[in-house]
Amino acid sequence: MAPERSCAFAPGRVNLIGEHTDYNGGLALPFAIAQGVTVRAETTRGDSGLAGTIEAHARDLQESDEFTLAEPSPADGWRAFVRGVVAELGRAGYPLCGARLEISGDVPQGSGLSSSAALEVALCLALAELGSKSSEGREDGRHVALDRRDIARLCARVENEWVGAHTGLLDQLASLFGAPDTALRIDFATLEIEPVPLVLDGWRLVILDSGERHAHASSGYNERREECARACMLLGVDSLSEGSAHAVAQLPEPLRLRAEHVLGENRRVREAVAALRTEDLATIGVLLDASHESLRDLFEISTPAVEAAVARLRSAGAAGARMVGGGFGGSILGLFAPDVPPPPDTLEVRPGPGAHLLET
Ligand code: GLA
Repeated sequence: MAPERSCAFAPGRVNLIGEHTDYNGGLALPFAIAQGVTVRAETTRGDSGLAGTIEAHARDLQESDEFTLAEPSPADGWRAFVRGVVAELGRAGYPLCGARLEISGDVPQGSGLSSSAALEVALCLALAELGSKSSEGREDGRHVALDRRDIARLCARVENEWVGAHTGLLDQLASLFGAPDTALRIDFATLEIEPVPLVLDGWRLVILDSGERHAHASSGYNERREECARACMLLGVDSLSEGSAHAVAQLPEPLRLRAEHVLGENRRVREAVAALRTEDLATIGVLLDASHESLRDLFEISTPAVEAAVARLRSAGAAGARMVGGGFGGSILGLFAPDVPPPPDTLEVRPGPGAHLLET
C-alpha cells in the first residue's frame, strides 16, 4: 500500500505589543511572520494504532529520534516537543499511526520568535492530517474536527507538561490565526481574536538578536508567572487584568511592580490598536519604548545584552524598540520610519499567513 503523506507549515510570531499579559487574562497584539517550521509526515510500514513507531528527523540539527506511539517517554530539547505533541494528540483521541517525520525551519531557536510554538503547531497539523487520512474507512478511524483554539491549548500543554515551560497561549494563537498584513488583537480573558490591519506603508519592523539565548523552562519566566499568581491570590481575582489600580497599588513588592506592568501593558495594547486603525505608526514607536521600559523596570526581565541591543536600535534612529517574547535574552523589535535605514544585521519581519497544510 502506498504511504499516506501530509505536510504542514506553522510560522513563528512577533508580538507587536502586550507582553506577559496572556497568562494574566490581558490583551496582546501579535502577528505571524514569514519564518516558520515545516513538518513532512508519511506513514511507515502500514502500522496503525499504538503498534506504530514515530521516526523523527530534525534536518537543520542533523539529529533523529525514534519512539513507539504506545509510550512516548520524556526527552530533552526538540525531542520533548515531538514526543509531547504525539502523546497529547493520542490523549485527546486523535487517530495516530506509525510515521516518519521530517522537520525543517528557519526561525532561530531561543530568539524570542517562537520557534517552539511553530514546531508544536506544525507537528499537530501534520500528524492530525496524516492520522485522519490513514484511518479513513477503518472502523476505529474517526475524524476529529480540529478547532484551532483547541490545538493552541494542546500545544500549550506540551510546553507546560513535556518541556516544563509554563507559557500561555500567545505564541500558538498567533501562529494558528495569523494572516498577511494583519495583527491579531487577542483578549485572553475570552480568547476572542480580532484582526487589525497592520499597514506599514514604507515603515519597517525589524528584529535584532541580542545574542543571548533563553529557555523559558530555566529562565525567570516561571518565577514571574508564580509572582503573578501570588498577586492574584492577594487581590482575590482570577487574573491580574481584573485587579483595580487602587488594589494593585497596595500589593507588597515586587508584586505591585509586576501587576502594574500588566495593567499598563493592557492599556498600551488598546492604544496601539487605535493607532493602527488611524495608520499612526509614530505612536506605535512611542508605545514600543514605553512597553520596553515597563518590562525592564516593573517586570524586571531585561539583561545587559538586551539593553545593549535596544540602545543600538535607538541610536540607529528607531522610532521605537522593545524586547519581544518571554525576556531574559532573545530578540529586540525595532520600528523604523520610511527614510531611516535599519542596521544591516537586522531581520525585516512582516505579517504573513498563519499555519496551514501544504501540498505533498
Ligand atoms: C513567551 C510565552 C508566551 C508569553 C510571552 C510573554 O513567548 O511563550 O506565552 O507569555 O513569553 O508575553
